[in-house]
Amino acid sequence: MKHSDISEILLTKTEIKNRVARLGEKISQDYKDKKPILISVLKGSVVFLSDLIRHLNFPVILDFISLSSYTSTQSSGVVRLIMDLRESIVGKDVLIIEDIVDTGLTLSYLKRNLMTRNPKSLKICVLLDKKECRKKPIKIDYTGFVIPNKFCVGYGLDWNQLYRNLPYIGILKPSVYRRRER
Ligand code: IMP
Repeated sequence: MKHSDISEILLTKTEIKNRVARLGEKISQDYKDKKPILISVLKGSVVFLSDLIRHLNFPVILDFISLSSYTSTQSSGVVRLIMDLRESIVGKDVLIIEDIVDTGLTLSYLKRNLMTRNPKSLKICVLLDKKECRKKPIKIDYTGFVIPNKFCVGYGLDWNQLYRNLPYIGILKPSVYRRRER
């Protein structure tokens, strides 16, 4: 059932489930015999992370980082570190898990920041890519879906901390955020 604030379901529960399983298989092949640290960017990537790791067949080590640049539906362009990792990543294989890449500012900042800590390798996995919105070029190693430039919620993605628990990814009706931004 579609929530009344959603104009269109972009990706169904089944489409996401199948794609996440395939991503998991690919990542498992690439990291066999390795012990990477998966860094989940809070909070949007936690639903994706929790499904993805159940398709990984190597020993999984998790850590979390929190960054912020968004106010409502707009990126402020200034990325801030809100909460840092607990583990050291020196000499480790690192895989960043992110919900969505839009302008690329958040992931560029994160990659630059983590590279200063001398990991052995660093790759990026995103569920969603709004390719046409890129302001900073960034190499994405694993992509779930390329999507159009529409504000999406569900499956971990929020608007003002809401809608993260929707089991699908949907386009939020602009009337919902315009009502609040006025
Ligand atoms: P970027 O820095 O512009 O690439 O944006 C990345 C971050 O913006 C993601 O981690 C999300 O938190 C947020 N974001 C970008 N687009 C959307 C969207 O359509 N829905 C929800 N969050 C989004």
